[in-house]
Amino acid sequence: MAVLDVVKYPDPRLREPTFDVEVFDDALQELVRDLADTMFALNGAGIAAIQVGRLERVFLIDGRVAGRNDDEPVVFVNPEIVEEGRGISISEEGCLSFPGVFVEVKRPRWVRVRAKDQHGQEFEIEGDGLLGRALQHEHDHLTGRLLVDMVGLVKKEMIKRKMKRWHSENDGEADARGDEGSPVIV
Ligand code: NI
Repeated sequence: MAVLDVVKYPDPRLREPTFDVEVFDDALQELVRDLADTMFALNGAGIAAIQVGRLERVFLIDGRVAGRNDDEPVVFVNPEIVEEGRGISISEEGCLSFPGVFVEVKRPRWVRVRAKDQHGQEFEIEGDGLLGRALQHEHDHLTGRLLVDMVGLVKKEMIKRKMKRWHSENDGEADARGDEGSPVIV
């Protein structure tokens, strides 16, 4: 079990270009396990590898969010959004890389994602609601797109100030966890 440090905005590592996974080896399985441990420890609904400083195109979503009966995370390797639509939904999102920040984000209501699992098996998953939102949020991470990019100038400055304050108060401390009842953190 390894709970890894989550990279926080404005760390430039969140903007690094990511790359496709080509080998589904033990190192990938270890990355997946560490991401799962980190996501569960911090009460995240999802996590992307780039949030722990790794550039493989990998993200995880909590099995319960993905409509599974158990809480085994669903693993997405080399994911692509292959279809989106069914209108627009606006809802609040949080992110493990922006502790304490919640912003309203407008997104397509529904998406279909194609990916491989951690063993290289291709699958597709579609979803709206929380799942649709989590899939799009995590996919954004793999392209370097962050919550701060989805808001207007005034809110952007507010987020920057808030994160500056967060770093001055928390650097070197343990990660903040999501609270019961707080909006979903992905
Ligand atoms: Ni996030």
